[in-house]
Amino acid sequence: MPNPPNGRLAVFPGSFDPLTNGHVDIILRSARLFERIVVAVLVNQDKKALFSPSERIEMIREVFHEYPNVEADSFDGLLVEYARRRRASAIIRGIRAVSDYEYEFQMALMNRHLEPMLETVFMMPAEQYTYLSSRLTKEVFSLGGNVSGLVPAAVEGWMKRKQKATIG
Ligand code: PNS
Repeated sequence: MPNPPNGRLAVFPGSFDPLTNGHVDIILRSARLFERIVVAVLVNQDKKALFSPSERIEMIREVFHEYPNVEADSFDGLLVEYARRRRASAIIRGIRAVSDYEYEFQMALMNRHLEPMLETVFMMPAEQYTYLSSRLTKEVFSLGGNVSGLVPAAVEGWMKRKQKATIG
C-alpha cells in the first residue's frame, strides 16, 4: 500500500457547536487508546450555528492546550476522504443512548462502504454526560440557564462573550 494508514491516529469528527464536557470525555478516553486524536470540525453552512468553524477550532485548541496528542482541525466534503488524507485508521464516535445508535450505525456502515479499511470505534461517555448535547446546551444557555459543568470553563467564556457581542 503506497500510503498506509497510521494505526495510531484517529479522527473524532463532529459539529462541536460548541464542544461539551461529553466531547471532552470521549476525546480523553480515545487519547488513551490512540497515539494521536484529530478533533475534526465539519465546515458547513449551518445558519443556526452559534460559532464559526474557526471559533470552534480555537476553543478546542484552548481546552486541549496541555495535550500535545490532541489536535483540532476542520474538514469539508466526505469524512472518509479527510480520514484518508490524514492517514487515520479509525473514526471515533460517541454513543450516549440507544437513540443515537440507528444514525451512528447507518453512518458507520456507509463510511465502511466508502472506505473498507477505516474502522468506526464507538465510545461511551461517563454516565453523567449521557443526556448532554451541544444543541441542548445552547438552548439552556440562550434561555438564561447555567451551563457550568456542561461545557469546559473556556467554552462557557466563549459563549458569554458571544452572547454579549450579539445582544450588545
Ligand atoms: O456532531 P455531528 O453533527 O453528529 O457530526 C456529524 C458528522 C460531521 C460526523 C457527519 O455529518 C459527517 O461525517 N459529515 C461529513 C460528510 C460525510 O462524509 N457524509 C457521509 C457520512 S455517512
